[in-house]
This record gives sequence, C-alpha cells and structure tokens, in this order.
Amino acid sequence: MTMTTTLIDIIAGARPNFMKIAPIIHALEARRKDGGSLKYRLVHTGQHYDARMSGDFFTQLGIPEPDVNLEVGSGTQAEQTAAIMIRYEKLLLDARSDLCLVVGDVTSTMACAIAAQKLCVPVAHVEAGIRSGDWTMPEEINRMVTDAITNYFLTTSEVANANLRRAGVEEERIFFVGNTMIDTLLANEARLRAPAFWQEHNLKAGEFFVLTLHRPANVDTSSGFAQLLTAIGEGTRGLPVVFPVHPRTAKTLQTMASLPSNLLLVEPQPYLEFNYLVKHAKAVITDSGGITEETTVMRVPCLTLRNSTERPETVTIGTNELIGTDPTKLKPALDRLFAGEWKKGAIPEKWDGQTSLRIVAALERLLASSA
Ligand code: UD1
Repeated sequence: MTMTTTLIDIIAGARPNFMKIAPIIHALEARRKDGGSLKYRLVHTGQHYDARMSGDFFTQLGIPEPDVNLEVGSGTQAEQTAAIMIRYEKLLLDARSDLCLVVGDVTSTMACAIAAQKLCVPVAHVEAGIRSGDWTMPEEINRMVTDAITNYFLTTSEVANANLRRAGVEEERIFFVGNTMIDTLLANEARLRAPAFWQEHNLKAGEFFVLTLHRPANVDTSSGFAQLLTAIGEGTRGLPVVFPVHPRTAKTLQTMASLPSNLLLVEPQPYLEFNYLVKHAKAVITDSGGITEETTVMRVPCLTLRNSTERPETVTIGTNELIGTDPTKLKPALDRLFAGEWKKGAIPEKWDGQTSLRIVAALERLLASSA
C-alpha cells in the first residue's frame, strides 16, 4: 500500500515567527522518522532579512534552510502585504500544498493566510484567538483578518479560546495546545549564553535591566521616545539598561541629541544571548508581546509600556504589568520593584514544552480525516 503524503506549508517571515516554527519543524521531523505522513515546505517570506533579525535565529534554533524564500523585503504595510500575497499565490499555483500553517501576528501571517484561503488551501493558525482590542497596532488587524479565514485554531490560552467562541467559531475547530514559544525556551534554557559584552561591561545577574522598544507608537516620534528614555534612565537608579536596538528604533535614536548615561545600546541579539540577558535581568521593560510570555516563564518581572495586551494571562497569572505609555507611570512601578514588591507569578496552563507535539498530533488527525 502506498501512503499519501500531505504537504504543509510552514510560513515564517519576521523575527517573532522563528522561535514559534522551530519546535513544530522538529516535531514534524521526529514524527516523519517514525513513519508519519506529514511533510512540510518551509516558506520564508523575507519580511525580515538581516542576519541579526533572521539568519542568526535559523542557525541557533536548528531551523533548516527555507525551501522557498519569497524575498519581499521592507515596505509599507500594504506594499509588504501585497508583495507577499502575489509571490505566495504564485508558489501555490506552481506547486500547491495541502495546508498553510501560519504563526503569530506579523504581516506575513495575514498575507499568506489570505493567498492560501483564496485558493481553497485550508489555513491553520498557531497563536490564534488572542486580541488586544487596539486597532492602531498592525498586529491586531493581522490577527483579526487571519482568524476570520482560519480553518483550524491552535491556541495558547483559555482567553483565546473564549474570544474565538464569542466570535462564533465552532468548538471542533479550536485546539488548545499551549505555547510553541515556550517549547523553544524550555528546549534551549540550558544553552543560553552571555553575549560578548557581558564581561566588557561587567554586568552582574540581578543588577541590570533589559529594554526593548519598537512599536511605532513609542519610537516613531523622537520627542515622545526621548521622554520615555529619560524616565527609564531615572527610574532604574543608575543600573545598566541593556537596550538591543531594533532597526526601526535605530532610525529615531539617530535623531536624538542625548541619551541617559546608563543606557547600553547594543545590536539586536541572537536568541540564546537575548534570553540569557532576560533570565538574569532585574526586570525587563518592553513594548513587545512575546517577551512578556518568556519573562512569565522565567519569572522575571516585566514592565510593559503599552496600554493593552493581547496576552492577558501574562498579567493575571505571570510577572507582567501594563504600565502604559505615560512616562510618569514608570517611576512608581520601578520603586515597587526596588522595594521587592513585584509579584512572583505562575506559569499558564499548557506552557509546558509539549505544545508542538500536540500540534503535530492534531494536524495528523485533521489531515487524515480530510484526505
Ligand atoms: C515586525 C512585526 C512585529 C514584530 C517585529 C519584531 C508586523 C506588522 N510587525 O515589525 O509584530 O514585533 O517585526 O521584530 O509584521 N528592517 C531591517 N532589517 C530587517 C527587517 C526590517 O533593517 O531584517 C527595518 C526596515 O527598515 C523596515 C523596518 O525595520 O522598514 C521595520 O520592519 P517591518 O518588518 O516592517 O516591521 P517591524 O517593525 O520589524
């Protein structure tokens, strides 16, 4: 008897996608060695293309070379969306797949989901159902559009499940699997390593901060950004603040006359070095969403400079707190941290390192029954 092979496109485009696809690929490869029938084709859209934003993650996380690179590069939201759709549609027309698996909420996620679904290739969305309610963030639009045309919802939390149910998604299309980012974190925790500048700057565990900022609302105007940085510089009481600078943020920083003296500007860090810094930081100050999940699992205090979060469990269960974007809110929060009054947090359900196994098992069942 010949077994039919089912081809899954795995889409990755931007930095936060790479740690989410790595464990899924590893789980698929392991199943295939055991005779599993699922094959994958790794499609990199090229949304992020620098070694620092992309290549380093492939190397460190053992992700194979993409089978296809759509090489779309940078552009406005519409330019990027359109370029990805046109190129991915062409790929599907030339060589169709049986399922398009997208992860997270970046532009590549939405663009490939649309192109696939319009060709009647079913879509599975990893990290489906999360919502911030903030339509000014491109990621929220990406989440809503993607989930409107997703067949199979692979979710990280009960809140996401409830959001989907409220939107009328049937129970049999929701798969509460957990968090693939945490699979990657737990698989790599023992490999985390100090960056080269650790010794040079005499950093000591628990005696420095990590800062990441790249949301347009925080970094695209230099006056607002400068006020935030001044508040961070003052509130952190002279401890070093390690600031890996995203390319978008670097553009605004170049226009600024002076910066707080305890800010240590560094290049975007590879995965193992970045999470080493997070694990040993006194606290993390960020406007990212994904990092708040990692700080929750590593039990590191996290101050989020946003007014909303699509990951409420990092606040209700984990170590995260929403501080907002008003610079005056930072000092009182940091004072509580220095007073030792930050919550310790707990780990959300199914953030246990086994999510990718659950995803592959769910996909095997689904694709076997739809073959
Ligand atoms: C994207 C994601 C965001 C994610 C972030 C992480 C969307 C809508 N946003 O935002 O959710 O948190 O990635 O990094 O998909 N650039 C480079 N090199 C690169 C890539 C980008 O220099 O490899 C520069 C370009 O000037 C580009 C800018 O960074 O215009 C922004 O890149 P883009 O992919 O548009 O969005 P991000 O802000 O990175």
